[in-house]
Amino acid sequence: MSTGNEIRTAFLDYFGRNGHEIVDSSPLVPRNDPTLLFTAAGMVQFKNVFTGNETRPYSRAVTSQKCLRAGGKHNDLENVGYTARLHTFFEMLGNFSFGDYFKDLAIELAWNLVTKEFGLPRDRLLVTVYAEDDQAAELWKKIAGLPEERILRIATSDNFWAMGDTGPCGPCSEIFFDHGEHLPGGPPGSPDEDGDRFVEIWNLVFMQYEQVDAQTRNDLPKPSIDTGMGLERISAVLQGKHDNYDTDLLRAIIEASAEYSGQAADGEHAVSHRVIADHLRASAFLVADGVLPSNEGRGYVLRRIMRRGMRHAHLLGCKDPLMWRLVPSLVSMMGVAFPELARADALITETLKLEETRFKDTLGRGLKLLEEETDKLSANGALDGEVAFKLYDTYGFPLDLTQDILRGQGRSVDTAGFDSAMERQRAAARKAWAGSGEAATETLWFELRERLGATEFLGYGTESAEGQVVALVVDGQDVAEVSAGQNVQLLVNQTPFYGESGGQEGDRGAIFSASGGELHVSDTQKKLGDLHVHIGVMAHGSLKVGDAVELRVDGERRRGLRIHHSATHLLHEALRRRLGNHVTQKGSLVAEDRLRFDISHPKPMTAEDVQVVEAEVNARIRENAAVETRFMTPDEAIEAGALALFGEKYGDEVRVLSMGGEDPVKGGQQFSTELCGGTHVARTGDIGYFKVTGETALASGVRRIEALAGAAAASHAAGQASALAEAAALMKVAPEDLNGRIEALLEERKRLDREVGDLRRKLATGGGGAANSDTREIAGLKFAARVLEGIPPKDLKPMADDLKKQIGSGVVVLVAVNDGKASLVVGVTDDATAKASAVDLVKVGSAALGGKGGGGRPDMAQAGGPDGAAAAEAVTAIEAALAAG
Ligand code: SER
Repeated sequence: MSTGNEIRTAFLDYFGRNGHEIVDSSPLVPRNDPTLLFTAAGMVQFKNVFTGNETRPYSRAVTSQKCLRAGGKHNDLENVGYTARLHTFFEMLGNFSFGDYFKDLAIELAWNLVTKEFGLPRDRLLVTVYAEDDQAAELWKKIAGLPEERILRIATSDNFWAMGDTGPCGPCSEIFFDHGEHLPGGPPGSPDEDGDRFVEIWNLVFMQYEQVDAQTRNDLPKPSIDTGMGLERISAVLQGKHDNYDTDLLRAIIEASAEYSGQAADGEHAVSHRVIADHLRASAFLVADGVLPSNEGRGYVLRRIMRRGMRHAHLLGCKDPLMWRLVPSLVSMMGVAFPELARADALITETLKLEETRFKDTLGRGLKLLEEETDKLSANGALDGEVAFKLYDTYGFPLDLTQDILRGQGRSVDTAGFDSAMERQRAAARKAWAGSGEAATETLWFELRERLGATEFLGYGTESAEGQVVALVVDGQDVAEVSAGQNVQLLVNQTPFYGESGGQEGDRGAIFSASGGELHVSDTQKKLGDLHVHIGVMAHGSLKVGDAVELRVDGERRRGLRIHHSATHLLHEALRRRLGNHVTQKGSLVAEDRLRFDISHPKPMTAEDVQVVEAEVNARIRENAAVETRFMTPDEAIEAGALALFGEKYGDEVRVLSMGGEDPVKGGQQFSTELCGGTHVARTGDIGYFKVTGETALASGVRRIEALAGAAAASHAAGQASALAEAAALMKVAPEDLNGRIEALLEERKRLDREVGDLRRKLATGGGGAANSDTREIAGLKFAARVLEGIPPKDLKPMADDLKKQIGSGVVVLVAVNDGKASLVVGVTDDATAKASAVDLVKVGSAALGGKGGGGRPDMAQAGGPDGAAAAEAVTAIEAALAAG
């Protein structure tokens, strides 16, 4: 007996040997088709290769594709647990030819694989072909030697496969396995074809057309092949089972569910175990591909799947959350083929645990209410829509969960009543909004939000994706079309563009339509919390609401934003370690090429503080540990040591970022843990390097730190190093000797200043003994006066003292003129102060200079005045005042 893992490998190897490129499964969330909710077939990732819009270096490929059939055109959610072969999540094995081989080789390869490699008996196989496809019927006869009666012609859409309402399509041919007469059921096309006896194991699609819209079907550039074989079904056949849930792929999870719930795997609880096993796989793979439970879009499909599984855990009598306990059995079964599952192990476990813990609170009460209400109903009466709405709104029961519960009792829900209750609630919200006084322009966004729902953000995992234009806004008006030159605000159903929030700037980039429309996005803003508004100008062509568009984020810029955002988290924690826990975030800016972080801290950081913080951040960068993302309730996050950001509004669940490696200070938890919705590096090493460039006061008690990370930090450091090298070259020393050289120069400069001052003074006061030559006598006192250029005012007093000494007894006057302004000092020797006062004389001089007086002591006074040109008059005025006594 082969295991599921061996069968997958055998399939891939077989086609690999036959010239096919072995290609990885694409994610469950399609990147290249906005019309699809989930990847529901192997061909989805090759859609554009079939239509010729994309080329690959190979023309034959083989995959084992993760598929999800829930919530879209292909939806099996309702049937899980009730049939032997339907799943929400399954793996599709498939081989593809992109214009290379067509029907003949496709049939030959398929027939050889099932009969030779897998060794299935020929007489247990039969095939169907599309009624008009004589060619395929002939090939089956020729290649497989099948008799006419085992080649069944089917005229219905069962044998014409289409990806969706649009996209590649073509007639198909299916291989069926006959599980044997002991099982009920008839061959395909017969009235009891849905029985378990004849099971379709492989669908070969002869891709020939592209459905462009409801009316138009074009030929593909070249006829191609797309095949799909459910791994679970072929495993059942090869493992001698006729029920997929009995294969090893699902049995291990069912047994784990039985063990933890204490309820036997088979028997009365078999359905619950099956639903749980199926829904666990779907939930885990969705989380691994970036979907998280929410009340919108894909996240709501995930929540519905999880909650259905959780209701069955409740039916098993589990008091504690169950599904998260089963994750190890899934990861050990499928983690090798899908490494993303092992990588996201912790996130999957926590997400399941959180969702089940929260739902448990209301599930029991909701079920009680439902029981009370159904007790009142007649045998098969429908449940009141109001009650279903209350279960939805208050107890978190998705409508289909309620329907699922009632289905077991042969009842349904009055969905019209449910819809009108929902509409009433919306109308109340609208009214509350209208009265809240928000700006009128915002009303438009509220209406759009209500009509269109949230924008689904794909940007944590990708920088380009397809989306569908759902609204265009020009000058505050909702419009249907925009054309070149217009400034536009655009909404799509899903986007990789990050809308500015949490300090991180919005993404820039471009949006293209197939018909040549091109919007250059200069900013992305968030409205009402979850609408991503792409703001830009139409560079070419036009765009219409409904257009499918390709959205491409400027990746280089996003890289810069990522490293600066992660560096901010490391900086925040490093600051708290160095400065203390009083440090809280007061503001943050994360740009492509710099970051700014404002903190509460009462005094400037010292140079050593800055160095220590910088060194800590760089040490964490070098540690290069993985950055982890988890979701939890705000309380749990804070308990886990997350730094709550004051003033931010949080929902029921928060995204928690941890980074910086295991930290002994935090008992082995990661160095930094913060609530954050931003985009981050995968490992701290991606930041490269970190450099603080500024630390300044922003307001009282608030410091602003400016810093750079990655290439910006490296080029800043390089710039500084080259400036240093230039300076050292100028000084003709090695850079490490520059300090010593500058200190010596400064010393020398001080000494020279002193010498120049002395010399100037000497020169100004006439120097040495030659000083007396211009000394006169006025009113019996010696009088010496000088008008000086280029002498600093502070030198005047020591010079006046010198001059006083030179004349021995009397009055000295010094006026210095600098930049047109005058400074005046009058000195009187002690023996003469009875006859003349320096204070009185300086007032006279000051008046002449246009000044306001001045002051000092009787032996030394000073003043200034704006009118330097009047210096000589000031001296004359003082002389006159002295003469007048
Ligand atoms: N696309 C086809 C299917 O999903 C064959 O792979 O059945």
